[in-house]
Amino acid sequence: MSKTTAAITAVGAYVPDYVLTNDILSTMVDTNDEWITSRTGIKERRILKDKDKGTSYLGIKAAEDLIAKKNIDPKEIDMVIFATATPDIMVAATGAYVASQIGAVNAFSYDLQAACSSFLYGMSTATSYIESGRYKKVLLIGADKMSSIIDYTDRTTCIIFGDGAGAVLFEPNTEGLGLQDEYLRSDGIGREFLKIEAGGSTLPASEETVANKQHFVKQDGKTVFKYAVSNMADASSKIMERNNLTGNDVNWLIAHQANKRIIDATAKRMELDHNKVLMNIERYGNTTSATLPLLLSDFEKQFKKGDNIVFASFGGGFTWGSIYLKWAYNS
Ligand SMILES: CC(C)(COP(=O)(O)OP(=O)(O)OC[C@H]1O[C@@H](n2cnc3c(N)ncnc32)[C@H](O)[C@@H]1OP(=O)(O)O)[C@@H](O)C(=O)NCCC(=O)NCCS
Repeated sequence: MSKTTAAITAVGAYVPDYVLTNDILSTMVDTNDEWITSRTGIKERRILKDKDKGTSYLGIKAAEDLIAKKNIDPKEIDMVIFATATPDIMVAATGAYVASQIGAVNAFSYDLQAACSSFLYGMSTATSYIESGRYKKVLLIGADKMSSIIDYTDRTTCIIFGDGAGAVLFEPNTEGLGLQDEYLRSDGIGREFLKIEAGGSTLPASEETVANKQHFVKQDGKTVFKYAVSNMADASSKIMERNNLTGNDVNWLIAHQANKRIIDATAKRMELDHNKVLMNIERYGNTTSATLPLLLSDFEKQFKKGDNIVFASFGGGFTWGSIYLKWAYNS
């Protein structure tokens, strides 16, 4: 009997309407379009302006897009994994709320947090549940309202991040398509270099933490950049080596959209042609858990059944890795 693999069978996405351009940012902080474009590749990002809407709103929209496109009954979904670094509220899982709102009333759901690698790790979790035979339809959503944790007076972070969401459905496959291999890593050394200092159990919220702006993302950009370049490139070349893939065998690189220079360095190590490197960072910036599914959604029509796709990510923690997946359908 052939082994059951776990394949992506549908994709959905959502980004809010409001466009925050580099030119608008340059009226808010001391920066300019040329600096941001040349250092990051970002031109604009989407922002969820409504104060009363959280990350769940983005995730629900992306899931509803997938459900409508695939024309499935949400009652058939067994499980919803909600990858996010910006849950609606503390303690109560945002995923549980999202699952109820989309009508996935027979599913159980929880949040998965691994900063910018949340979605990649979520792919590993979702496919494991399918491969085990325990569940048949696992919905993985990656969503972040990064604007809720960004200090728009800090030019070193506010230029990078944006809001968005994407969703994929994993189902069993008997043709050997779907996830082939994964190489996932983490290193707690990263905790110091990319974080929100307060609001967790080590430094609960207080008047002082608010006054000190300790509830916003802070990063040592140069150090994060250095680790991201070497680790994302290492992970991607390792997964290729392990599966005897050359640059010619890989059809697409779907890499976390943190910085164009990091993606270019990864592609170079993989010896990939420029046209195989998928990018939308110029339009969305870094949407944290949403970058990989937003790429899948934007480029879905180009994928052919059997295409070899390498996913790669790097994020806070540090967390990083690479996944090799065979695409399972023609659009
Ligand atoms: C943040 C990042 C774009 C900064 O680029 P960089 O080339 O490392 O720039 P530096 O931090 O060395 O800053 C260079 C200069 O530009 C200035 N600068 C920083 N942000 C600026 C901005 N938005 N506009 C204009 N100048 C800026 C700095 O103050 C510094 O000036 P100085 O030389 O007078 O001190 C880059 O480090 C990066 O992308 N890091 C990874 C971040 C990331 O991906 N995080 C998420 C991980 S998932």
